[in-house]
Amino acid sequence: MNPFEFKKALVVSVTCETPDTNTYTVKLSGEYIAKPGQFNMIYVYGLGEIPVSISSLPLRRGAYTQIDHTIRAIGAVTRAIFLRVGAGSIIGVRGPYGVGWPLIEAEGKDLVIIAGGVGLAPLRPVIQYIEANREKYGRVNILYGAKKPEFLLYKYEYEKYSSIPNSKLLLSSDTPSEGWRHYVGFVTELIKYIDVNVENAVVFLCGPEAMMRSAVKNLITRGFGKSNIYVSMERRMRCGVGLCGTCQFGHFFVCKDGPVFSYSDIEEYFWVEGL
Ligand SMILES: Cc1cc2nc3c(=O)[nH]c(=O)nc-3n(C[C@H](O)[C@H](O)[C@H](O)COP(=O)(O)OP(=O)(O)OC[C@H]3O[C@@H](n4cnc5c(N)ncnc54)[C@H](O)[C@@H]3O)c2cc1C
Ligand code: FES
Repeated sequence: MNPFEFKKALVVSVTCETPDTNTYTVKLSGEYIAKPGQFNMIYVYGLGEIPVSISSLPLRRGAYTQIDHTIRAIGAVTRAIFLRVGAGSIIGVRGPYGVGWPLIEAEGKDLVIIAGGVGLAPLRPVIQYIEANREKYGRVNILYGAKKPEFLLYKYEYEKYSSIPNSKLLLSSDTPSEGWRHYVGFVTELIKYIDVNVENAVVFLCGPEAMMRSAVKNLITRGFGKSNIYVSMERRMRCGVGLCGTCQFGHFFVCKDGPVFSYSDIEEYFWVEGL
């Protein structure tokens, strides 16, 4: 099989999340299986190709499967997607690639989900999976923050997240804002408020690297084991399948060995700026 072959995906709807971020719901023909935390290479005809997390559990609907991708416009390709891709557009998708979150290993344990900004995208399918398999996990804490409330994703789902039995959703905004009734400060500061059995808990963490570093420091201070902290890393990618070396991270390739890593496996690289 040619690893670079695309499937054609029809964009069925576009949901505006924040001033610079949309969720694109696409339809692929046939069965499409992906684990929470995996990503696709998204190709926009004539524009280029980028890695993007799959931000929903795949939903089989008769002859096709529906999945979401949530994309923040930050550069050439993502901005062009923001401006030019709409319902009815066809995009290319190849994947799923990478290692997902260790949801099987986490069974029977408390779960702490920590996300910053667009970092909630690869964790949204985790939350959907927990909702569908609630009995498999202990207490669930979801900590989510952004620079400002307007940059938080999936606001229309928070009520649902909060109503998952034996779980808590804690929101934060770095800066105060009118009408904001949640925490003001960094999302990583919320770690001290969670009710969790650190001896039997697993943490899934995704966000900007500075935020993840601060989160890891606070988690270790609170007594979480290094091997129970999982982080999703981002690097530039080209092939997405471990052939070109663009995404090298120490002796790992993020596309093939990650993007989800146990912190204990990557500790020596995690603190090196710009690696
Ligand atoms: C596994 C994985 C999953 C991802 N999931 C998502 C997602 O769900 N939603 C989303 O919005 N984005 C996601 N990204 C990031 C996304 O791939 C980049 O934003 C995109 O490639 C930028 O392309 P561009 O042409 O628009 O920007 P460019 O013009 O190429 O770059 C704009 C700026 O972003 C920086 N940058 C670009 N790509 C990366 C990268 N991979 N790592 C660090 N800095 C980068 C550049 O250095 C530059 O400063 C993911 C990346 C990876 C590796
Ligand atoms: S992107 Fe080519 S090796 Fe990872």
